[in-house]
Amino acid sequence: MTVQTTDRPLKGTVEVPGDKSLAHRVALFAALSEGTSEVSHYPDSGVTRAMRGALGSLGVPSSLENGVLRLKGNGFRPFPVEGARAFCGNSATTMRLLAGALAGTGSTATLDGSEGLRRRPMDRIVEPLRAMGADVRGTEGTSADGRRVACAPLYFKPAPLTGIEHSLGIASAQALSCLQIAALGATGESRFTAPGPVRDHTIRLLRAMGASIVDGRVAPLDSPSSLRPIRGRLPGDISSAAFLLVAAAIVPGSRITVRGVCVNPTRTGVLDILKAMGACVDISGEHEEMGEPVADVTLESGPLKAVVVEGDMVVRAIDEMPALAVAAAFAEGETVVRDARELRYKETDRIAAIVTQLRALGAEVAEQDDGLTIRGGTVRGGIAHANGDHRLAMSMAVCGLRVPVTVAGAEILDESFPSFAPTLQALCR
Ligand code: S3P
Repeated sequence: MTVQTTDRPLKGTVEVPGDKSLAHRVALFAALSEGTSEVSHYPDSGVTRAMRGALGSLGVPSSLENGVLRLKGNGFRPFPVEGARAFCGNSATTMRLLAGALAGTGSTATLDGSEGLRRRPMDRIVEPLRAMGADVRGTEGTSADGRRVACAPLYFKPAPLTGIEHSLGIASAQALSCLQIAALGATGESRFTAPGPVRDHTIRLLRAMGASIVDGRVAPLDSPSSLRPIRGRLPGDISSAAFLLVAAAIVPGSRITVRGVCVNPTRTGVLDILKAMGACVDISGEHEEMGEPVADVTLESGPLKAVVVEGDMVVRAIDEMPALAVAAAFAEGETVVRDARELRYKETDRIAAIVTQLRALGAEVAEQDDGLTIRGGTVRGGIAHANGDHRLAMSMAVCGLRVPVTVAGAEILDESFPSFAPTLQALCR
């Protein structure tokens, strides 16, 4: 993908595909409910096909027509296909959430994924699931930081679970959700805490479906048919909107609106950071859809200045860091990101990948163990590599609006935002 630089401001109003985190949960929880769920604005991309495909292999197929997902649930029972091998593609959310469902329902199955997914750490779910009594076995592998840890394939056999109290060592919504889902099938209450404001979609949706999760305490379901099916429209993905918002932030004179975005406060770090950098961000028309706050987000560009991103703010913008790094590359001063070691365990080691790719475009960037620093105004352009990471591909493409950039391997963006190029083009007209 080669992006044409522009000095014409970005203008207009667009929508983005439905939120991926919600889409994963909708499909999985619908499968665990009794009855038929019907959800519109459901995104069709690599990662959402991974969850639907895995559920299909386990015996719970779904259809997706004109953006409407239809799925007839199996209840909170062992999945219909015993001994299935469910392939999760590149999607760690699919694997970690499904792991909780397999353990909780006492299913016999194997979860596997792409080469990239096989390298991602699964000890964060395998160990606490085993503490609950689950019969789950991982495969020894090497994580991004060279540790020998449990990785995929993961093998599950039925075993009774007991509720536990567990504090996660990492601020991971995937790990927390995995345990919360498993706890629905345990004997006795469980309580889980995480060290940071991780996204709370699992709690919101499961509660709306009839589960009892209060103050981190998960009560087991009364019966396999306790979860009600889901109906509604998925809010837009703030994580996809982020690329468009950063695009508008770096091109002077821009003013764009992204309509119908999920503005759950656990996900809006990107808006707070862009505001702190000097962009004008306005949230309007706030309402609720599927238990989530939804609004139109308008961004007007302004001179960008460097910021420090640390602590809880990192958790609230964990997926948006590659896009924000591009905003930092065009800001005045040195932006510092710290407390962000989790970035090393994403689709790529995102700290190393952002540093390498921004350097390839001439930027002055330094790498630290838990973050990076970016000197604004030093990026010149060149060839960037997506490295098999959809978010890196789109971030580097956005950079190309200001300096000449070719992104090698950009097709990976189909994993999450297949309509990225036409949507960006619509704003550049
Ligand atoms: C997600 C949680 C985050 C995020 C991922 C989606 C989720 O991962 O990076 O894109 O839907 O729960 P971690 O839980 O590993 O931080």
